[in-house]
Amino acid sequence: MREALKGQLSDDELRQFRAFDVIGDIAVVKLPEKLLSKKHLIGQALMQVHRHVRTVLNQTAPVRGEFRTRELEVIAGEPRTETVYHEGGCIFKVDLAKAYFSPRLATERLRVAKLVRLGEVVTNLFAGVGSYSIIIARHSKAARVYSIDKNPAAFEYMRENIRINKVGDRVVPILGDAREVVEKRFARKADRVLMPLPELAHDFFDVALEALKPSGGIVHLYDFGQEPDVFGPSFEFARSAAAQKGFKVDLLGARKIRSYATRCHHVVLDLALSSSRKI
Ligand SMILES: C[S@@+](CC[C@H](N)C(=O)[O-])C[C@H]1O[C@@H](n2cnc3c(N)ncnc32)[C@H](O)[C@@H]1O
Repeated sequence: MREALKGQLSDDELRQFRAFDVIGDIAVVKLPEKLLSKKHLIGQALMQVHRHVRTVLNQTAPVRGEFRTRELEVIAGEPRTETVYHEGGCIFKVDLAKAYFSPRLATERLRVAKLVRLGEVVTNLFAGVGSYSIIIARHSKAARVYSIDKNPAAFEYMRENIRINKVGDRVVPILGDAREVVEKRFARKADRVLMPLPELAHDFFDVALEALKPSGGIVHLYDFGQEPDVFGPSFEFARSAAAQKGFKVDLLGARKIRSYATRCHHVVLDLALSSSRKI
């Protein structure tokens, strides 16, 4: 990029150009205010350096709202926001303006998939376009993956991705609010529950417990952790909330997924819940 932009951007401007994501044939950059006047030059340079990139998008507002979408503008190439992305032997179609998607979670998706055992029932409360659910179906012998999302656009892509990846016999796409869906149709069915939306970790932990089989199971709790005690508060929250519902919690593992803000991390806690409830 430095070579391609030499003479067009000053050294100071070049230093401000940070990391970008490539999702399928689309590159997504987040340009600071100072570089906006050079956005087309930067977009062109990116396409020159990364030959398979057909479109460059600039993210103009952070991921936000209940559907966790972002505002994007085309700064170079074909005027579109839909792409096809390959991960873990699976194919995902996604419109980056209409549904959440991050390639930075690829390692975490595969890690969770490899933990799933033969015949497990998995419930994914915040499934997006189906990325975790489909990777799990492809890399494990799960019996069923109930895959819930509230965003109608994400749900349509999830259905399409289930079809493309031929996992329709095991992945069940469900459109709706995770709380309502679990309460009405999917309570007490899961061996494992995924909660890949840290913003709702605390509000929906009771839903995850409700989704588990009466004997208990595993919950992957995604949360934010602030240094110096990155995992402690999340675990203490889970322990106390679970105790109120008659569950005991053991911490199987905890890891930082990525840095989120200054001294704050997107984290995951793998929790084993066992129940003393009467069935
Ligand atoms: C951070 S995204 C995770 C998507 C997916 N797991 C992934 O890694 O690509 C969170 C998803 O939760 C969905 N969501 C938000 N609130 C929800 C709710 N109450 N019930 C079900 N889905 C919800 C959003 O529409 C969004 O697709």
